[in-house]
Amino acid sequence: MNSKFYCFLVGLFASLSVTAQTKINPDSIKSKMQWFADAKLGIFIHEGIYAVDGIDESWSFYNKKVSYEQYMKQLAGFTLKNYDAAKWADLIQESGARYAVITTKHHDGVATYDTKMNDLSIAKATPAIKDLIKPFFEELRKRDIKCGAYFSLLDWSSPDYPGFLKDSTRYMIANEPARWARFQHFFQGQIGEISKQFNPDLWWFDGDWEHTADEWQSEKVRTLILSHNPSAIINGRLQGYGDYATPEQNFPVTRPAYNWWELCMTTNDNWGFHYDNNWKTPFEVITIYVDAVSNGGNLLLDMGPKEDGTIPEEQVNVLKELGAWNRRNGESIFNTIGGMPQGHFYGPTTLSKDSATLYLFVHSKTPGTLILKGLYNKILNAQVLGSNKKVSPKVVGKISWSSVPGLVYLDVPDGAQDKYVTVIKLELDGPVRLYRGKGGFD
Ligand code: GLC
Repeated sequence: MNSKFYCFLVGLFASLSVTAQTKINPDSIKSKMQWFADAKLGIFIHEGIYAVDGIDESWSFYNKKVSYEQYMKQLAGFTLKNYDAAKWADLIQESGARYAVITTKHHDGVATYDTKMNDLSIAKATPAIKDLIKPFFEELRKRDIKCGAYFSLLDWSSPDYPGFLKDSTRYMIANEPARWARFQHFFQGQIGEISKQFNPDLWWFDGDWEHTADEWQSEKVRTLILSHNPSAIINGRLQGYGDYATPEQNFPVTRPAYNWWELCMTTNDNWGFHYDNNWKTPFEVITIYVDAVSNGGNLLLDMGPKEDGTIPEEQVNVLKELGAWNRRNGESIFNTIGGMPQGHFYGPTTLSKDSATLYLFVHSKTPGTLILKGLYNKILNAQVLGSNKKVSPKVVGKISWSSVPGLVYLDVPDGAQDKYVTVIKLELDGPVRLYRGKGGFD
């Protein structure tokens, strides 16, 4: 009868989980990952010359939508003339995000800082004559927001890089190993520069798919970064040498078996600035965010500023609304852990770290009664988060001779609904304990 007894403990998922990559031992990185696990929300920034014409970042020439020459003409139009790092950092802070990740170099090879490894940077090759990164990181750090550097390993502009346009390559590594060695020296030199100049808390590599770990010398790259900053976090795009997984744009339905993961997502359909009005609404962004957090992940929400450094109004609005929601409901998000496995509640949930407080998320327009299944615990207090409106739980169908818990019905009081997603806070009599069996079939 009690064989299906299931005790949900903090760390249950950890025992099932793996890191983003198999080369790294999850135990050895646990402590440095803690701020990331608690952070839940990061803001991704794609800023680069592609914003001048509002075309796909790097991919537009690679995919031959525009010629390489046409693409590079954008260098002349990149001004950053209204760039205000403090304003960006204020907005990020207002959104509630605990970290930000910004492009230091995209696949087009244009560095957004003053690299000494070549002349292809916004500092040397555009009218901006600026370093995008330093002032931004300084402003973030003043606000206690962690700093992440996006860096594309592949560099379609480098004459020593094999790949260039779709369906064509400059050379084969096997035929010209010295040329590839020059590229290794070049990109690793840039990583060294970024480490020394900006000391990122997090490295967000991209483009690893074009080569193997041996070719990138991933282990060496990891060591290079960690020897400068042992607590730097590395995303899972270094061919097996990263710390966490980075699913992109697509939403998991079942809970991912990773200790740490982060969904990166655009606010419209593009990473960089584009003439694209398919904006996600604040409601959509917040529901996706809650879903990621309830499944044990973070959301890295992207914005693409214009070439002059201004941020499109719609993105500002999404970040502000997200921030306002976080201020009302952040207790259910930050420093929590992923919620109950599916089946107990028809919606996302999170748990406090001691797992004695359970948060249920309900779309604001869903009226009426919520149902919880298989909860052994007694509910000591139930209320709408951010208000003192109480919710009275009613236990239904508890059979005296059976150990199977009854169902819990919870009426969300009228007028207590959040504008976007309402959070119901349940204080339990101890760490949550769940029944996972087949009820009367047992
Ligand atoms: C992809 C794309 C790139 C974008 C990145 C963000 O890997 O290559 O353009 O920057 O996703 O996740």
